[in-house]
Amino acid sequence: MTTFAQFLPEHLQQNALPEQLGSVLESVISACSEISGKVRLGALSGVLGMAGTGNIQGEDQKKLDVIANDILIRILKDNPSVAGLASEEEDTFVAAHPDGRYLVLFDPLDGSSNIDVNISVGTIFSILEKPEGDLETASFLQKGRDQVAAGYVLYGPQTQLVLTVGHGVSVFTLDEDGNFVMTKENPRVPETTKEFAINMSNRRHWLPPVQRYIDELLAGETDSRGKNYNMRWVASMVAEIHRILMRGGVFMYPQDKRDLSKPGKLRLMYEANPMSLILEQAGGAAFDGQIDMLDVKPVGLHQRVAVFMGSKEEVDYIRKLHQA
Ligand code: AHG
Ligand code: MN
Ligand code: MN
Repeated sequence: MTTFAQFLPEHLQQNALPEQLGSVLESVISACSEISGKVRLGALSGVLGMAGTGNIQGEDQKKLDVIANDILIRILKDNPSVAGLASEEEDTFVAAHPDGRYLVLFDPLDGSSNIDVNISVGTIFSILEKPEGDLETASFLQKGRDQVAAGYVLYGPQTQLVLTVGHGVSVFTLDEDGNFVMTKENPRVPETTKEFAINMSNRRHWLPPVQRYIDELLAGETDSRGKNYNMRWVASMVAEIHRILMRGGVFMYPQDKRDLSKPGKLRLMYEANPMSLILEQAGGAAFDGQIDMLDVKPVGLHQRVAVFMGSKEEVDYIRKLHQA
């Protein structure tokens, strides 16, 4: 099993972190290092292409969506501290150990439209404490603020783990021996930025506050924002959020007019919430168009949500436009 214990900052060391939580993190990390091995080899490990199946959200599954999901489920179900799992690729929750203390929610492969063209993808995870009583869907429906740990692994030029247990953020890089070595402690998201990320092809479908915000950014120094902005869109949330964690920026996936019953594209429980906790812990902010992301009361495992997250000044400005 991959160990990251010897490289941990004090607040992640055994005496500060409940032993069982440490062991659940070890399992997640070990699964991600196995996924990383498959991603690295691509066609050589036979993992590219479509699986020929779909998930509950009506999305076609790639082979690697299914493989990454199976790896996480196999390793986590083996850990007696895990009570249950929820995944983007599973219709309902998966029960594990009745005496387990933790619930693990994950997007096994984020950015899967990028996998066949060798662009960065990732795994996102969120860990909650299991409430007393029998395991049911409601056990998982806890606010983002209640997460005991959250993180992601980015399979990019380097494989990196970004982790928070609620006391700042730590960044680890996978070395040649399969160990995640801490390479950055407590990155801070710059409060101001000149970079934004949004899928511009949806422009005509946006609601007025987002239309206005992007118009202002595109007008740059000729308008109220008084500076020119640059745009990036990888189409892998993990890569996008990692860039923002390292150098600032704002990431958006707003609700759109095509289907007002759908609040957004991204999923609250295993995409928006873990990323929001990481960004908040690094001095950034996250908003769903109405309230702080971490205060949203979940109603479903696969619930979608509008997302505005990153550098604080921009997220606060977007909030103002939504409240106007
Ligand atoms: P997933 O691959 O887990 O379904 O997530 C894809 C998400 C996210 O990673 C990315 O930001 C966004 O979808 C990309 O959406 P577009 O296809 O609209 O660019
Ligand atoms: Mn995703
Ligand atoms: Mn996914």
